[in-house]
Amino acid sequence: MSDKFFVDNVLSGRVAFVTGGGTGITGGVAGALAESGAAVALVSRKLEHLEPAAEAIRARGGEAMAVAADVRNIEEVEKAIAATTERFGKIDLVVNGAAGNFLCPAEELSSNGFGTVVDIDLKGTFNVCRAAFNELKRNRGQILNISATLHYVGTPLQLHVSAAKAGVDALTRHLAVEWGRYGIRVNAIAPGPIEDTEGMSRLVPLEVKEKLRRNIPLGRFGRIKDIEQAAIFLCSDAASFINGAILVVDGGQWLSSGRMLGG
Ligand code: COA
Repeated sequence: MSDKFFVDNVLSGRVAFVTGGGTGITGGVAGALAESGAAVALVSRKLEHLEPAAEAIRARGGEAMAVAADVRNIEEVEKAIAATTERFGKIDLVVNGAAGNFLCPAEELSSNGFGTVVDIDLKGTFNVCRAAFNELKRNRGQILNISATLHYVGTPLQLHVSAAKAGVDALTRHLAVEWGRYGIRVNAIAPGPIEDTEGMSRLVPLEVKEKLRRNIPLGRFGRIKDIEQAAIFLCSDAASFINGAILVVDGGQWLSSGRMLGG
């Protein structure tokens, strides 16, 4: 969770359903939403990963609950939505951060490996949006999807994730158009390389880290706080006319794509 940064209580009275666990980017976003006044349901497969994050939010005076659900399973998602509305009375904000990732060359990737990541990232995002629709419609709520920039170029070893995130972008834009009439805003954030995340430590080999950093025009990796700030902005009334946007938060990294700064 970040140090206090946001306008006090900018999300006061809101209830957020955040998938993806209590650590890393989604953990940071959940904490920032709570700091901004929202009650937060933290949702992922394993309760033991969520409870400490929910407890940390409560210890700082926020409201949080932990709910176990695999986003691939629509029945589990529906139950998690019901548990959240029962506890907090409504849902008016959904953050889809649940994701799966590993590095694998396309020629070695199994059909099940490809499908597993697409199921978590893309079908999981659909499942949560679909299950939350009635609540979002009733409350003129918002959806924030966590995407990526991998699919803007061809990123080696990431075919499965790139395909899934391209789908998440399509879903973001389509739902923005279809559900805008209900006052539901649907946006996404596409983070670049964010330090101090599981993805960064597990997926980016040490030997390429420095080269990667040098190719970021701003000269540093992103921080979880950078994503938190973008998330609070997009979820707040300051973004009340922003719908269907995919906000890239990467220090200009994908635009440079190794073509500058001596990469
Ligand atoms: N390389 C190649 N294939 C892999 C793999 C790897 N490193 N890891 C998993 N797979 C394949 C498996 O072999 C399996 O396919 P198969 O049946 O053809 O062998 C398929 O993916 C499903 O794997 P499984 O472990 O059963 O899936 P799971 O649902 O338990 O786990 C994953 C989901 C695969 C995404 C797992 O990496 C995971 O849970 N990761 C933690 C969360 C995460 O990645 N967060 C994102 C941080 S950026």
